[in-house]
Amino acid sequence: MTETPPVCDYEGSDYRTRFWENQGRDYEDLAERIALRRLMPPHGGTLIEIGAGFGRLADEYVGYDKVVLFDYSRSLLREAQAHLGDDPRFIYVAGNWYNMPFVAGLFDTLVQIRTLHHAADAPALFRQLARIAKPGGDYVLEFANKRNLKAILRYWAKRQLWSPFEREPVEFVELNFDFHPRWIREQLQTAGFTPGRTLAASYFRLGVLKRTIPTGLLVGLDSLVQWTGAIMQLSPSLFVHNGHPAGGKAAVPSTFFACPHCQTGLGDVVDGRLTCPNTACNRQYRVENNLYDFKEPI
Ligand SMILES: C[S@@+](CC[C@H](N)C(=O)[O-])C[C@H]1O[C@@H](n2cnc3c(N)ncnc32)[C@H](O)[C@@H]1O
Repeated sequence: MTETPPVCDYEGSDYRTRFWENQGRDYEDLAERIALRRLMPPHGGTLIEIGAGFGRLADEYVGYDKVVLFDYSRSLLREAQAHLGDDPRFIYVAGNWYNMPFVAGLFDTLVQIRTLHHAADAPALFRQLARIAKPGGDYVLEFANKRNLKAILRYWAKRQLWSPFEREPVEFVELNFDFHPRWIREQLQTAGFTPGRTLAASYFRLGVLKRTIPTGLLVGLDSLVQWTGAIMQLSPSLFVHNGHPAGGKAAVPSTFFACPHCQTGLGDVVDGRLTCPNTACNRQYRVENNLYDFKEPI
């Protein structure tokens, strides 16, 4: 395995209470749900949310038989679990998105929202997702758009040094990146996805608007304006639907996890652990109370 890029570690973080709960972000939450519903197939077999955090969006996946909430933070996954209870459709998997612990061709639908900005190596991440997507599957990606209206105005007013028009990602704070929509499209295509419909979300993410305009009205306006993403992409948040080419190999039914180190398929859990059957590897991973922990071997 080659050196993996650095990870923005949310272990033990208060992300849920500090960023979402009673923090005046109902507009963003509701607008994101609308965009997600528009792009994600409502039903399916197996879905994975990459960087699911505390499971904020988990109730959007009611139409799926099996839902993997995947995140680097065990503590956020435990919060998701506490909130979602014993629903057997949910599987909690801790790991690093650069080494996804799943067999190839597994997931009908992949969802990634508010997480790409932590990817120091987005192309490597896309390669992993293309590997685990089922042929003909769907990948809904939301990402932070560096070429947004506010960034353009700030740049023109000389209040921002970096250019929103340059293609390369900008790291505005350590391990926090904004991306150019064209660069993202190119990287998705290189990984084997087919980027399609794009929605422009959260144009009204401004304190003054959120304080003065009722949330329902703001969300309604957002819902209308989202469609402009097909021709103009100047919002801070973009949602893009990606197709995955049909014709490849789907995962063999009954296979699911793979060793994140050598990608050999894993068998059943024995004594609270999964053991890699590849004798040259033989790594073991802990499974405890429905949390499969692939962050590091035991
Ligand atoms: C800003 S939070 C967003 C959580 C959720 N998507 C939401 O919208 O509520 C970013 C999440 O990405 C996860 N993350 C960051 N780097 C990761 C990596 N390399 N592998 C897996 N998860 C990662 C973090 O642990 C965190 O939960």
